[in-house]
Amino acid sequence: MLNHSTITRTLFRIAKTTGRQYSATTAVAFDKVGVIGLGLMGHGIAQVAATSGVHSQVIAFEQEQKYLDSGKARIQGSIGKLVSKGKMSQEDADKALQSITFTTDMALLADTDFILEAVIENMDLKQSLYTNLGETCKPETIFASNTSSLSITEMAQFSGRPQNFVGVHFFNPVQIMKLVEVIRTKQTDPAVFEKAYNWVGDIGKVAVSCGDTPGFIVNRLLVPALLQAMLMMDRTDASIKDIDISMQLGAGHPMGPLHLADYIGLDTCYYIAKGWVEKYPNESAFVIPKCLKIMVDAGNLGRKTGKGFYHWDGDKRGDPTTA
Ligand code: 3HC
Repeated sequence: MLNHSTITRTLFRIAKTTGRQYSATTAVAFDKVGVIGLGLMGHGIAQVAATSGVHSQVIAFEQEQKYLDSGKARIQGSIGKLVSKGKMSQEDADKALQSITFTTDMALLADTDFILEAVIENMDLKQSLYTNLGETCKPETIFASNTSSLSITEMAQFSGRPQNFVGVHFFNPVQIMKLVEVIRTKQTDPAVFEKAYNWVGDIGKVAVSCGDTPGFIVNRLLVPALLQAMLMMDRTDASIKDIDISMQLGAGHPMGPLHLADYIGLDTCYYIAKGWVEKYPNESAFVIPKCLKIMVDAGNLGRKTGKGFYHWDGDKRGDPTTA
């Protein structure tokens, strides 16, 4: 398990790179946390919360047993890899796993201090979830959504406690990416925002602050770039391989934009773009490329379905699907 001194050392190293001030504090922002949804993002969030070693308990909630089981297996597999690479001791891995309570019973979330929600991007679903959570949890529980595209302000209304509501947006893969955007609405209590912001440091990540604006910081810059790469495909300006190699070798990105779109999930890219286009029809950076819609309609969603701009074998990228 990452103990507090390891996290502190990491944060001082990050502070040096980012030019940020970091002062070590002993108090942690939250004791008992909950994570709702154990998919691609949620399982990673539950994992990093547990391996940070700063929580007495992490309640990992899924509505259906089969999703709970697959989320659990993902966390076990990922922690197992850390052990086999010698990055975590078996004892710390066991402690981290023991600190997670996997459940389909929402009542176990009632006395948590902080809840992170990472369910699919569907406002109707989030509305009923936040209405239930608002009724289930103690009044002080702070809610945070990991949404990448929906309005935090709107979700906060459903919870009945908009002052206790923030956005906490992680990046994929959660276990590796250091950044977390912390989003405040006009109604977020400043003390609540500060706690959520400090929690990000507690789990060994770096927080940035942003208002409730489409795409926050990263996606507002990144997703339009991915969409532009797809528009290049629509216009047959260049091949998949050449677009990706260009941004890797010409701009120093770890993955080219089409590779990254597959990695994130083409459905996710599509729903972000679609939501933006519907809400902000006059913003020229928000578009739905033809090739994206065609692939999503055909069920070719990238890494998760084995086919997108590339062929995929699990997490391993293969050849491009077109020349
Ligand atoms: N979980 C845990 N560890 C992982 C991992 C995962 N899912 N994926 C990779 N790793 C680890 C590997 O095991 C390896 O560890 P090691 O150094 O101990 O061997 C290390 O990360 C490097 O991995 P690889 O050698 O396989 O490959 P790369 O060097 O290319 O790194 C990457 C992989 C970190 C994913 C890198 O390619 C990268 O940073 N890509 C860009 C990712 C990105 O932009 N993410 C943001 C997407 S936008 C988003 O999430 C927002 C949402 O709202 C849409």
